Parts: sequence; C-alpha cells; structure tokens
Amino acid sequence: MDVMGEANARETKGEDIIHMEVGQPATAAPRAAREAARRALESERLGYTEALGLPALRERIARYMTERYGVGVGPERIVVTAGSSAGFVLAFLAILDPGEALGLPSPGYPCYRQVLKALGMRPFLIETSGQGRWMPTIADVDHLAAEKVAGLLLASPNNPTGTMVEGPRLAEIAAACRRHGLWLVSDEIYHGLEYDVVAETALQHSGEAIVVNSFSKYFSMTGWRIGWLVVPEALIRPIERLAQNLYISPPAISQVAALGAFDGIDELEAIKAGYARNRAMLLQELPRARLSAILPADGAFYLYADVSRFTSNSEAFAKAMLKDIGVATTPGIDFDPDRGRSYIRLCYAGPEAKMREAARRIAAWLKQKQE
Ligand SMILES: Cc1ncc(COP(=O)(O)O)c(C=O)c1O
Repeated sequence: MDVMGEANARETKGEDIIHMEVGQPATAAPRAAREAARRALESERLGYTEALGLPALRERIARYMTERYGVGVGPERIVVTAGSSAGFVLAFLAILDPGEALGLPSPGYPCYRQVLKALGMRPFLIETSGQGRWMPTIADVDHLAAEKVAGLLLASPNNPTGTMVEGPRLAEIAAACRRHGLWLVSDEIYHGLEYDVVAETALQHSGEAIVVNSFSKYFSMTGWRIGWLVVPEALIRPIERLAQNLYISPPAISQVAALGAFDGIDELEAIKAGYARNRAMLLQELPRARLSAILPADGAFYLYADVSRFTSNSEAFAKAMLKDIGVATTPGIDFDPDRGRSYIRLCYAGPEAKMREAARRIAAWLKQKQE
C-alpha cells in the first residue's frame, strides 16, 4: 500500500509511472455486464436482495460450475458475497470458533491472516518452497492435524506466485483433509486465468470443500465488489444468518451486472490472451535482465521474482525501483513477512505496451546494479 500511495503521488505530479503493484485488471467489466447494470439503473428499484443473493444469479453461477468443471452443484449451495473478501469473513465465522487456527501456505495473500486475526482466530503459517511450486504437501496437512489446526486454506493459482497445485496433488490434499477431519477452504479467485493446464476445483475432489470465488479477476470487475461461495449444505443456513446480520445483502446492481458478465466471455478471453502475451514476454525478458529466479507462473497475473542477488530488503528495493525508473512493484514481505525480504511481486495485468516498457526499464536499471 505504501508503494501504491507513493506511485499515485508521483503520477499526480506528472511522472510516468507503470503500475505493476496492484493486483487488478486494467480493463473495465465486460460490456454485457455494464449494459445489464445500465438497464437495471433505469428500470429497477435495486433494493435489498435475498441475503444469499438473487436466485437468478445463484442459478447462473451453479450452471457455470457445471459448465466449467462438470461438477453438479445445486443453486442452494451458492452464496453471493460482496467480493470474495466478504466470502472469507462468512466462511471463517461459519467454520471456526474464536481461538481456532487455519493453515495458510506462505507466501500467500496477506488478508487471510489479517481477517483471521481481526476475528479472534489464528493464522497457522505453512512455509512452502519454490521447488514445491509454493504449494503445501501432504506432510503439511498431516502436521496441521497434529497441531490441532481446524483446516487448510489453499489458493491455486496462488497470489503472489501464480503457481498452481496439480490435479492429482489436489485430490491427495482433499483426501488428507477428509481423513483428518480438517476443513478445506479453496480460494479459486484466479480460476479462468490459467495459461497451460486448466485449474480443477476442490469440489471435484471433495463435496465438503468450501470454495471461494469472485468476479474480480477473470471477470474484470474488482470495484463492483461481487463474488461467491460454494458451501456444503450444513453451512447454508448459518451463512445465511451471518450474511443477513453482517451486511443484509450483496449490492443489488453488482449482482445484476455479474449476471450479465456471463454473456461477456469472448471479451474476457481476449483480455486473458493479452495477459498470456505479457506473461510470455516477461518470462523471456526478465531473465535476460538478471531476474532469472522466477518460476513460470501457471496462472493469475503475477510473477514472484527472487531478488536476493541484489537485496535482502525488498521494500527498499521496490521503493528505489519506483523512484529511479517509475515502475511500481510489491515487496514480498506483504506475502511472506520473513522470506519475502528477498522477493518482489510483479503484476502483469496492465496494457501490453506498458508491460513491455516496464521490462525495458527494469533491464536497464538492473544492468547497473551491484550484486
Ligand atoms: C488470492 C486472493 N483472494 C482474494 C482476493 C480478494 O478479492 P475480492 O474481494 O476482490 O474478490 C484477492 C485480491 O487480490 C486475492 O489475490
């Protein structure tokens, strides 16, 4: 956030800043979503909706789950949420008591641990490795059980690394969670943004998994604050009560827009093709610029680069990069408070010309840097 604040301040002063720090598409919601919202503004009341979301949207999401993964999920198990961020709050409150812990692979999205702490629950960090594509192992799941941790949160593709768990490993992880009686919360917010292998949903391997998803990333709708959960039947009623009490209903206009977004898949696939080109270009250019220790991320729109040959203070490194060449990136400490001192995250969801220019500037900058 500090880097973003500094980047915005410099931009306001007229500096030519390239944003690779914020994890969001540079594009608007698909036209079909915006059209649906416009029609609703003109003709609908847009009052509160059902706490679990508009029935038509829940049905459409259930159909999407079937179309995309071949899993049969009834619309009653879909919970529409105010972004996946609200989905996490609902899920954590539904499955954990205060003081209980949830296993979080590290590096990972920082809000999981902050939300857990704010709710009086405990993050239990699992240190993953680049060799393991930053994904937890079965031994990690066994360890969670031994430590009386209540469950595992898995994000694949992951933020900040973009790496994914392979289908067979996901099946094993799901089986290990079932064997130990652990919850499996699967953050699938980057599904749809895979470049080689299509991601599997945890629901293909466990009917009890809680799936968290969102219209923010693949659907390019961050500011609309709309997402969804798929929950096991026993959790529907508790989550409905929580949602009703916490925020009454997700935003009506965003629900209408989300319903429209399913008619914009061609547009979304074209946006994704742009990410794929950015990814390929950066994976070619950055290693030439001495940023060689990057795993070719399988999905999302991030690269997690090891910068240990230049620094052990990624925050200072990111600030210097912004000051010297106007490229804003995120220091790894956000995602891994300890080892993140040697990493930065680059988001390549920006326009292709900008991403190319960023690669050029980074290469020229690193050329002069001492190792
Ligand atoms: C892994 C992951 N999960 C969840 C979120 C939250 O997204 P939203 O609340 O917009 O759905 C993000 C946002 O960057 C993320 O990277």
